[in-house]
Amino acid sequence: MDMLRITGLRKRFGSKEVLRGLDLAVPEHSVFGFLGKNGAGKTTTMKTVLGLLRADGGEIAVNGEKVLYGQTATNRWIGYLPDVPEFYPFMTAAEYLRFCGEISGMAKADIGPRSRELLALVGLQNEKHRIRGYSRGMKQRLGIAQALLNRPKLLICDEPTSALDPVGRKEILDLLLTVREQTTVLFSTHILSDVERICTDVAFLDQGTAKIQGTLNEIRARYRSEEYLVETDSEAGLQALQTAFPALHKIGKNQLSFREKDCPAADVLRFLADQAVPLLRFERAEPSLESLFMEVVEQ
Ligand SMILES: Nc1ncnc2c1ncn2[C@@H]1O[C@H](COP(=O)(O)OP(=O)(O)O)[C@@H](O)[C@H]1O
Ligand SMILES: [Mg+2]
Repeated sequence: MDMLRITGLRKRFGSKEVLRGLDLAVPEHSVFGFLGKNGAGKTTTMKTVLGLLRADGGEIAVNGEKVLYGQTATNRWIGYLPDVPEFYPFMTAAEYLRFCGEISGMAKADIGPRSRELLALVGLQNEKHRIRGYSRGMKQRLGIAQALLNRPKLLICDEPTSALDPVGRKEILDLLLTVREQTTVLFSTHILSDVERICTDVAFLDQGTAKIQGTLNEIRARYRSEEYLVETDSEAGLQALQTAFPALHKIGKNQLSFREKDCPAADVLRFLADQAVPLLRFERAEPSLESLFMEVVEQ
């Protein structure tokens, strides 16, 4: 089942059409990467899912239940970490979670144990300082704990790693992977490597629609390139290859790449063998997400 399903979503601000018929299907227990450049409409999409923005068209269902603008019923399934979370700086992490639990109407007896469990999960269980002194990474981790308080079926995080250094980013990504056992995770990012690192599924938002969407494995298989990579540390070998096959192009000091359609791999291999070129590598290249997306965006 899809935990979140968006069909034909449209949203404009004045004359600016941000979403132009966005379709998105987030399968249960996926870690879904919602990729897009700055200004693509990621935050707009998330706020519409939360019923905070009114759509100009289309439908959204969370856990099979229709989202209605201005109503919060479907938000009982959702935990949300906004792009710029606000905290009360004078509180400790435990105080903050208690406060959030109380205002969201959690059962009193549940708040303490659940808070302790979550603080341990995000590595803040021994943190006695007030939030005022927290690093950005610590604030994001506390924000994730807060978003998980009500045991959501869908955790939505808006660019949770964008403001962090590599160590902080890794901590957040690892955390999102861990919580996948409890909930479906949807997070937005403009960082491709975040997606490559932890996501099962991905959609790329561009010009108001999802340009590529599916599991990472499907996408890789669908776009598996006919691209090959040859690596040799022989300068003479490289030159001979390039002369014999002008379609080969240099991509690194010792590397050439080519496409099967420009130049059959068997011919290249035969040449390498005949000329006894010392070979370090000969392989079919896995397309990187980056090259896939560049290809799609350029269309
Ligand atoms: N409340 C608003 N009023 C007018 N324009 C907005 C508003 N919110 C967002 N936008 C515009 O919509 C576009 C998408 O914004 P946003 O959803 O924040 O993108 P992203 O989160 O992908 O960076 C941007 O061009 C932004 O300037
Ligand atoms: Mg945003």
